[in-house]
Amino acid sequence: MGRIAAIVGGGVIGGGWAARFALNGWQVRVFDPDPEAGRKIGEVMENARLSLPGLGNVALPQEGAVTFHDTIAEAVAGTEWVQESVPERLDLKQKVYAELMAHVPGEAVIGSSTSGYKPSELQAGLARPGQVMVAHPFNPVYLLPLVELVTTDANEAARVDRAKEILGGLGMYPLHLRREIDAHVADRFLEAVWREALWLVRDGIATTEEIDNAIRYGFGLRWAQMGLFETYRVAGGEAGMRHFIAQFGPCLKWPWTKLMDVPELTDDLIDAIADQSDAQSGAHSIRELERIRDANLVGIMRALYREDWGAGALQRAHDSRIEPASGLVRHVDELHDLSQPVLTARRAVPLEWLDYNGHMTESRYLEAFADATDRLMQMIGCDADYIAGGGSYFTTETHIRHLDEARAGEVIEIRTRVIVGQGKKMHLFQEMHAGERLLSTGEHFLLHVNLETRRSAPPAPHVEAALVKLAEAHASLPAPEGLGKGIGAR
Ligand SMILES: NC(=O)c1ccc[n+]([C@@H]2O[C@H](COP(=O)([O-])OP(=O)(O)OC[C@H]3O[C@@H](n4cnc5c(N)ncnc54)[C@H](O)[C@@H]3O)[C@@H](O)[C@H]2O)c1
Repeated sequence: MGRIAAIVGGGVIGGGWAARFALNGWQVRVFDPDPEAGRKIGEVMENARLSLPGLGNVALPQEGAVTFHDTIAEAVAGTEWVQESVPERLDLKQKVYAELMAHVPGEAVIGSSTSGYKPSELQAGLARPGQVMVAHPFNPVYLLPLVELVTTDANEAARVDRAKEILGGLGMYPLHLRREIDAHVADRFLEAVWREALWLVRDGIATTEEIDNAIRYGFGLRWAQMGLFETYRVAGGEAGMRHFIAQFGPCLKWPWTKLMDVPELTDDLIDAIADQSDAQSGAHSIRELERIRDANLVGIMRALYREDWGAGALQRAHDSRIEPASGLVRHVDELHDLSQPVLTARRAVPLEWLDYNGHMTESRYLEAFADATDRLMQMIGCDADYIAGGGSYFTTETHIRHLDEARAGEVIEIRTRVIVGQGKKMHLFQEMHAGERLLSTGEHFLLHVNLETRRSAPPAPHVEAALVKLAEAHASLPAPEGLGKGIGAR
């Protein structure tokens, strides 16, 4: 049995936590008195299965089971982590903590999803206050990596370290606040923006849609990749941050914003916001909007993955962490059995790889095979350092056969066989499976090149030796079905 997490309160946020834990291989136990909790979490899990596994390029561990329990005592027995996500009412949370103290193992971390309360408010009067800390996530919890970790002096350093390690192991980024404040960092910031938006609607300056457009067509895109300070540094031009502040600092003294004033939430204002929001987004159900949001987030994060930047760099680090458990290796010398085709990919199909037919689109088959070829190159020593030194392989020919469909979130495996590995030549045959199903085969011919002359040239001896080793080991396998077939031949 895998590691166990308990989810106390399984609404929007608790459901997101349940999905993140379960899809990262944890057993999840849910306590929520709402009889609808099972259905609601099931729907969140469904969205999460489509989107989270394909964020990275390495398959997540086997999904853990999510079970529902009638008592807190049953849900939290044997857990390493308890995540409280009950409604945002201090009296209710304190009641829940008092009960948790009676049943949660002393070693476990109890994280609270609270958006606004300070950990000291949650810890007050508890038998073991050191167990409780704020672990404030962002919706959708299964996709967004940020979690604000807020602690007090009551939290033992070792427990805080363990909390960070567990959250990191879920692919999250624990931002450990230097000290507790109301609403932590991100919500304090978001509230300022929200306040301004309410004024703009109230004063008839902009509709909800116009405000959203102001964000998503402009600074929202910048924020997603560089945040605020790095963006402004770049905006300052070559002179950087100091120049930026000198130029725009005086504006802060002008009454551009409403500062701390909050518009009164009159019925008229609420009606205006709700009506404008209906006009803007009413054509879609909330579930549809969630799926649109998830697909967009996956696309943005995978673009950042390619650039090794921001949330994408974080995902790459997570991939490296889980890679050993996935069975992938980085060098031929690490292979236990040379005689079989080499596992060169074990990944889930990203949401952004689907086409209008609802299955993996053809160009992504080539992307998956190309990534697998890159891994094989890395495994024979043609890695980033070698390429920086001026040698590499160029693909000169590819033949892909599409034999079966692949769907979002489905785990695909690619095994690569070296047909010819000799001198400058590398001839590969790859098979892509989803479980037992053969989805596709890819046959590729590559030539080793000198990156300076851009012409074919022999590889370095250690690269050729590793390739030959594989080619010789694979030579005794029967010819793969489909090898050398022309277009249309089945
Ligand atoms: N919604 C967000 O965007 C967001 C983001 C970050 C953090 N949070 C925080 O997460 C927490 C939960 O918010 P939510 O949006 O998921 O609310 P929600 O209303 O969707 O879910 C709350 C769940 O708690 C359950 N519940 C009520 N009493 C309970 C009890 N005594 N024991 C166990 N379960 C109980 C309810 O049945 C419900 O399913 C709040 O503290 C909130 O501040 C919310």
